[in-house]
Amino acid sequence: MKIKPFIQYGTIDPSVLKDFVQGASIAIVCSNSVWNKSYISSVIDSLSSVYNIKLYKHMRPNAPFSDLQQIIDDYSGSKPDTIIGIGGGSVIDACKALSVCFEGNSLRDLFYKRKNLGSNSIHTIAIPTTAGTGAELSFGAILYDDLDGIKGGLRGEVLQPNVVMIDVKLYATAPPKLIAEVGFDCLTHAVETYISTKSNPIVQYQSLSTIRTVFSCLPNAVKGDLHALKQMAISSAMMGVNLAYSSTCLPHRIQYVIGPMTRTSHAQGLIALYKGWTKLLEENGSQTSLEILERDMGYDFNLRDAVKELKSKVDINYTLDTLGIKVEDVELVASKVTGNVKNDPIYENEETIVKLLKESF
Ligand SMILES: [Fe+2]
Repeated sequence: MKIKPFIQYGTIDPSVLKDFVQGASIAIVCSNSVWNKSYISSVIDSLSSVYNIKLYKHMRPNAPFSDLQQIIDDYSGSKPDTIIGIGGGSVIDACKALSVCFEGNSLRDLFYKRKNLGSNSIHTIAIPTTAGTGAELSFGAILYDDLDGIKGGLRGEVLQPNVVMIDVKLYATAPPKLIAEVGFDCLTHAVETYISTKSNPIVQYQSLSTIRTVFSCLPNAVKGDLHALKQMAISSAMMGVNLAYSSTCLPHRIQYVIGPMTRTSHAQGLIALYKGWTKLLEENGSQTSLEILERDMGYDFNLRDAVKELKSKVDINYTLDTLGIKVEDVELVASKVTGNVKNDPIYENEETIVKLLKESF
């Protein structure tokens, strides 16, 4: 395992940012709310006399193809020297995908694996503003084909941003509900990369640290405590590394189906699915590394109970009914699940997914 990008922690001032920018032309993709609510707009404004900057604030959740294409078309055949993504997971994933999509590389061809990612990418700086997705350090970019209604992703080391800049003050601009939900995504990355059959001892060591952080810090992070937010921000980034070197499990595979279906966020789907997954995991405890995880966390630690308690503490008690799924939809959802389902040690066949869904109401 290696952690390649340069990680900068602290306030982002123009001189710090200049040190990391390459070339003269910069594409900036920024979440609208961060632009309006933080100091970042003044930093970017102060660079506009030195660089040729194009600013995009239109990226919607799930990084739809049409929003990315708008940026590619705007460059009409040319490309920026540096891409800066300032926002949550969708903004950063969009920037990672854009870094390999200029110069005739079609987004659609890469997404549907008709073409390889190659080894060149545009220099990319990630400035995350939510703590949980891990997009800032992972090798994946989750996108949404809004023409055909398919959520999927690009994956490759070439997608990892070249620089990550973490300033906890930017995370504090997110509403409490979002901090709680995305923080839960961070927990899922820790638990799933630990449990996955692709895991390894270093991944598991980092997972344990993050699981402890989320349970102890998320409730205070939601209240805006900057120290707790800092712990969450660093955990999120480290879980990006875990995602690069291990994999997620069934909850992530299933969320990719129910997200577009119910128009609910990635984190909301996971929160609902953890009800069923942690139950099944407990039933199969001896065949998975759950028992070792629980022992490492402390002898009285029970993952299922701890998740339940956290969900009620930060008020994110979602189930599949809350998201709009009905019991009669379960078979259809299960039939649409794709990806490496076998990385989840509890997976036997489609019936496992049906059971997980039924336990998540
Ligand atoms: Fe996730």
